Amino acid sequence: MFLRASGACSTALFLLATLPACVECPRLPGLSVNACAQVERLALPATLPPSVGNAKADDRNALLLGFQVFFDARFSSNQDVRCATCHLPERDFHDAKPTSTGLATVDRNSPSTLHAAWQRWQTWDGKADSLWSQPLGAFENPKEMNYTRLEIAHQIAASHRARYENAFGPLPPLDDGARFPSKGKPGEESWDRMAAADQLEVNRVVANVGKALEAYMRKAVHGTGRIDKYVQGDTSALTKEEEKGLVVFFKAGCDACHSGPTFTDDAFHALGVPPAPGMGPDRGRAAALEQLAQSPFSVDGPFHDGPKLAPTPAPTAADEGAFHTPTLRNVTRTGPWGHNGIFPTLASVLDFHQKGGEGKVSPKLKKVDLTTDERAALVAFMAALEVDDPPQPWNNWPDR
Ligand code: HEC
Ligand code: HEC
Repeated sequence: MFLRASGACSTALFLLATLPACVECPRLPGLSVNACAQVERLALPATLPPSVGNAKADDRNALLLGFQVFFDARFSSNQDVRCATCHLPERDFHDAKPTSTGLATVDRNSPSTLHAAWQRWQTWDGKADSLWSQPLGAFENPKEMNYTRLEIAHQIAASHRARYENAFGPLPPLDDGARFPSKGKPGEESWDRMAAADQLEVNRVVANVGKALEAYMRKAVHGTGRIDKYVQGDTSALTKEEEKGLVVFFKAGCDACHSGPTFTDDAFHALGVPPAPGMGPDRGRAAALEQLAQSPFSVDGPFHDGPKLAPTPAPTAADEGAFHTPTLRNVTRTGPWGHNGIFPTLASVLDFHQKGGEGKVSPKLKKVDLTTDERAALVAFMAALEVDDPPQPWNNWPDR
């Protein structure tokens, strides 16, 4: 509570709401009352939010399975791509490339997974509405791991049976080759001609593998940083320049979307970020919502633990070309930036935001004029958002 004045000032404001002489944010006089309250909310809570639909999210056996699978390249068609290919622990679970390469090069930038457990919506377009349902997309994407759900189930049985069964109970009788072909996913004949009940069994195994990976990603989560110390009262935790940048951050309206302790509203906005050279337009959130409506792994599907959540809404015009507001924690370590990695520097991202984006953009994004000093302070502030690495051993490759 060091930021906001109490007592006389609040009373005066209550009586005369527009009283200009009353400084309601004594430490940061440039800020409005409202922004001052927002600053206090920037501190990262001590605990993660509850998982969405995963009863095993904090289960140690599930975690031990997920830790192994995250680093296991056998879950890819060439036996050489693993989650850690694009989410490298030694690079903050990011790959420092404009767009990632697995079996082929994808058209999106890999987000760091260090903050995934803090957000509901996963990937730049939110095509996964929970953390546990996200990994299956990576496994089956032909450009990422190019694996199939039947192969995942068989690989679990061959390489991780005990770990799996400790966490989730017995595997189905996968060695019955007539019921469970060696490979296949929806759209492939081997899968499509399976009995619906057997498809459900395999889907349950892969959903559980996702749940194990979530349990791991909830451990491999970032800690706090200087900004948290500052907000909690240690005013020396930010330099004067960074503190000025904090004020500019609010003055420039960045908090309209990069809000709260994770510096994201966990929502989607169109900024008109242009396609990368040689790429077509990306519908972002609109296409993801259509995809999600078809998925059996969504929050209203059979593998969601606990009360079902509302089904996915249909896309609206605002979803066309909209992308997830990325966290700004650790932002200096996750360049190049933007959903397709087209921004080589933080200054270039800032230029793009400052001019109000391009084309048809969210009304929340305003064109903003900043002095050279203000810009430099804002970039310094973003650099001050670096956070601690996850605790050992989850910040590293498993010791097999
Ligand atoms: C070929 C590189 C590649 C591989 C392999 C890969 N990912 Fe990703 N990951 C990405 C990219 C790119 C995105 C963003 C995708 C998008 O927006 O469509 C992403 C998004 C994510 C996200 C969402 C994070 C966020 O902030 O939105 C999570 C979680 C994640 N991956 C976990 C995994 C797991 C677990 C695996 C292994 C099963 C995996 N990834 C394999 C590249 C990869
Ligand atoms: C209307 C909501 C909105 C506002 C306001 C906004 N941003 Fe963003 N920001 C986004 C979205 C959405 C993206 C991702 C855009 C994309 O790649 O398509 C983004 C991307 C970024 C990135 C790149 C992060 C990464 O990991 O790639 C940075 C840095 C950033 N914004 C900083 C700022 C700053 C500084 C301000 C204030 C001047 C600001 N933003 C205002 C929504 C917003």
